[in-house]
Amino acid sequence: MELDRLEELRKSIDQCDEILVKTFEKRMELVIEVLEYKREKGLPVFHPEREQQVMEKVLSNFSHINRPQEIKALYKAIMKISRRLQSRELVPHNIVLVGFMGTGKTTTAKDLAKKLEMKFVDVDAFIEEKTGMTIAHIFEENGEGYFRALEKKAIMELSEEKHMILSCGGGAILNKENVEHMKKHGRVVLLKAHAETILKRLEKDDTRPLLKDKINLEHIRKMLEERESAYNISSDLVIETDYKSIDDISNEIVKKLYEFNKEK
Ligand code: S3P
Repeated sequence: MELDRLEELRKSIDQCDEILVKTFEKRMELVIEVLEYKREKGLPVFHPEREQQVMEKVLSNFSHINRPQEIKALYKAIMKISRRLQSRELVPHNIVLVGFMGTGKTTTAKDLAKKLEMKFVDVDAFIEEKTGMTIAHIFEENGEGYFRALEKKAIMELSEEKHMILSCGGGAILNKENVEHMKKHGRVVLLKAHAETILKRLEKDDTRPLLKDKINLEHIRKMLEERESAYNISSDLVIETDYKSIDDISNEIVKKLYEFNKEK
């Protein structure tokens, strides 16, 4: 008798699951339709206010619900899944950010990772973690050549991963093989900034060995000039970052990536 009751309850749960799965599938289809519509109309893909609205609507519309915390947790997961779904549709590959020191690669990568629900790795941080040394310390102890070898190894390893954002050190594109690897598995996005902007951003920074005791316009301009062609050759897309917010920069990247993929 008791077992019958258990069976009955389980059957009801199965029915609920069927409805949930069907409804969830429908929701995901609609999310992709919204994405297509936004693409067609050139509208920004990510809209955090809308996510907030959905959450508030769900919680207030169903004010009678007796499990608000659980529903909130469920909706957080749904939003995350929806964002990931959209991003896989938009960028079905890695995003590799390159550019001179101080062009905002790491900050932009973090913002993009949040918006696109993608994993993010900063190559320099990865090297620091692996070696237990700071980049400055590696340069000091073992020299630039040693650092470049570590950088190459890290890029080879990390580029193989799928659907992730890689933020590379400013000199990573100086090695042809690094660039080949980046391009094989992803789209390479070059962030640019004027020497004046870079100086302003890095003036008080002492973590960049190649700028140590040389944080001045002349030196930055010289390095930018020396690297200009390597930066241009390496990149699929170019983003000017001067006077733009991180939010604007990452939205521009998403838009340009989509356009770039469409052309390919
Ligand atoms: C370098 C840039 C640094 C770091 C190292 C060398 C370069 O990274 O990899 O100091 O050659 O431009 P960021 O561009 O993230 O500062």
